[in-house]
Amino acid sequence: MSRFLTPEDCNSKREALHEVLPLVNGPFCIRFMVTLACNFKCYYCDYQNREFKAETMTFEDFKKCVDHLDGFERFKVFNFTGGGEPLTHKDIARMVEYVKNKDITKTIEITTNGSLLTHQMSDALLSAGVDRVKVSLQGRSSQAYRETCGVAVDYDELKEQLCYFRDAKGPDVILFAKIIDQMIPTPEERSSFIHEYQDIVDEYEIDCLFPTPSAKEAVSSEYNNTL
Ligand SMILES: C[S@@+](CC[C@H](N)C(=O)[O-])C[C@H]1O[C@@H](n2cnc3c(N)ncnc32)[C@H](O)[C@@H]1O
Ligand code: SF4
Repeated sequence: MSRFLTPEDCNSKREALHEVLPLVNGPFCIRFMVTLACNFKCYYCDYQNREFKAETMTFEDFKKCVDHLDGFERFKVFNFTGGGEPLTHKDIARMVEYVKNKDITKTIEITTNGSLLTHQMSDALLSAGVDRVKVSLQGRSSQAYRETCGVAVDYDELKEQLCYFRDAKGPDVILFAKIIDQMIPTPEERSSFIHEYQDIVDEYEIDCLFPTPSAKEAVSSEYNNTL
């Protein structure tokens, strides 16, 4: 059974910055973008609405970058994310394994839209040593996905993939889902979201839409005024 992340939960996992600053021996967390390519085109996402070339880092370059991180204090988190979708990278599991074997971080996370979290991908990431998978949900139906991301996603299949990951992982691995408030605007929809996911993920969060240029352009003027 998962639980809603209360401010107390979040705070208990936080380190008091005044106790760790100044950082004398390297960064606290690393966010690593292994690709700018994405299989979605979310209307609010600046990365997909700007003229970025969808470049992808080679495994060799990734290794060089990670090798340069040797000698720092162990990071709290090494997060694979993207100006794109990290699971589109063919070497993503190898990359996770490489970081795991270097023992440079307490936790390895992947932030993903979840669409490519197939059973095979789940098995590979779990074997490689991922500690936390953070799935960014883009709606609660195939139709909502089409409207938000401009692509066809079988919502039931996506949920089934999350259930597979839930069942395959051990208790120390965290499955996390987040959704943007604008996709579930009413209190009823938020309760229903929590009800839908409380037995699937370990933790979940309702995030707010950042007022990026793409988000501001796309959302209604009523919501826009609150950004
Ligand atoms: C840029 S995506 C990259 C990783 C992956 N493609 C994904 O969607 O999780 C990282 C996170 O940024 C969030 N994001 C991007 N633009 C945003 C915005 N304007 N407001 C809130 N969250 C945003 C996405 O929802 C996602 O959770
Ligand atoms: S899946 Fe992630 S990177 Fe891709 S468009 Fe959506 S938010 Fe941006």
